[in-house]
Amino acid sequence: MIILSIETSCDETAVSLVEAVGDFPNAKYEILGNGLWSQIDIHREYGGVFPALAKREHAATLVSMLEKAVREAGLKSDYTPEIDPETESKIRTILEREPSLADNLITFHKEHGTMPVGAIAVTAGPGLEPALWVGVNFAKALALLWNVSVIPVNHMEGHILASIFDIEHDDELTPIPFPAVSLLISGGHTELILMKDWIHYEKIGQTRDDAVGEAYDKVARLMGLPYPGGPEISKLANEARKNNLPPYKDDLPTPMLHSGDLDFSFSGLKTAVRYAIADKELSDTDKKALARDFEDVVRTVLIKKTEMAINQYGAETLIIGGGVSANQWLMNEFKSYFLNSHKGINVYTPSPGLATDNSIMIALAGHAHLDKAANPAAAKFLKAKGNRSLSDE
Ligand code: KG4
Ligand code: ZN
Repeated sequence: MIILSIETSCDETAVSLVEAVGDFPNAKYEILGNGLWSQIDIHREYGGVFPALAKREHAATLVSMLEKAVREAGLKSDYTPEIDPETESKIRTILEREPSLADNLITFHKEHGTMPVGAIAVTAGPGLEPALWVGVNFAKALALLWNVSVIPVNHMEGHILASIFDIEHDDELTPIPFPAVSLLISGGHTELILMKDWIHYEKIGQTRDDAVGEAYDKVARLMGLPYPGGPEISKLANEARKNNLPPYKDDLPTPMLHSGDLDFSFSGLKTAVRYAIADKELSDTDKKALARDFEDVVRTVLIKKTEMAINQYGAETLIIGGGVSANQWLMNEFKSYFLNSHKGINVYTPSPGLATDNSIMIALAGHAHLDKAANPAAAKFLKAKGNRSLSDE
């Protein structure tokens, strides 16, 4: 079955065509086509993601990403129907807030016809609600046009599955022993999730304030570095390590390290960095050292809480996912720590390109939930939900 997947929860506009052969979780997945456009350059001048702009850019870019995916896949329509006026009017109603997206989609359809896809998977949350709605409405319009069902997908489930998707070898999900603990670290989330089986998720810990990616972004901003801050901080921190720089601030707080529960807090760490900088002009060396000091605390807190979760639930697998898991140093710290201290536990981190937001992971999560597919008539009732939780899946 070919799955068309759509991701618009934040500042990446992504559309993929993924062929799944077999049943979840034992299927083989072939990436037929992948369109991914990052809006980062647009948001950079605002120092973070600007929701109204993200929504507008998704609307302007979705059809080009669909075209790219279709072209790469070499997908051809069996026939190119005329759109009857009634269908065209329904499409325009679904996309009434994005009239240019409706125009682009209708032009695409007249040129390419109905694509032979078996289902459409779309991120329905969590994320920026206005941005999510663009993707969800686009999926509804496609469902009507092509007579295909729509599967609403949880973005965080996508991150989990992306981390065990073996794109470099056999294009399958790695068969993992349960229970598994998943640490999700992204711009909007910091969560520990317990999986007793496939597609069973229980939230066992979460941040009480900022997400860890958000802390990276805010600390970077305090240091005058561009958005997104994660890669910038990590680059500087790596240089500090290479050059063995002395600490800039060796007593940054390790928030909630000893709270006894599995929750996190990162806003105090960010505030401590703000005080450490105060109104000083940081030299390049200071910035490198402070970036490393900050990242060391992040590592300590994340590893400690994850270890507590693993011990508490007797986990046999650790899955780390979300944009911050693109950080190779951090992932290596996890791997070496758990390899040494928890013999036998398998640690999975995403392949390059699958850590930050993408639509391949949305196809995987969609395939896991084929049973939730809303037929074309029911698809029009689907909703985007900014605070959708994994525990609801
Ligand atoms: O998962 P993601 O692409 O989007 C959300 O769902 O939020 O995560 C984006 C977050 C941003 O906060 C970004 O700064 C962070 O991931 N990030 C990193 C790195 N690359 C991206 N954080 C630390 N180190 C990195 N190399
Ligand atoms: Zn994400």
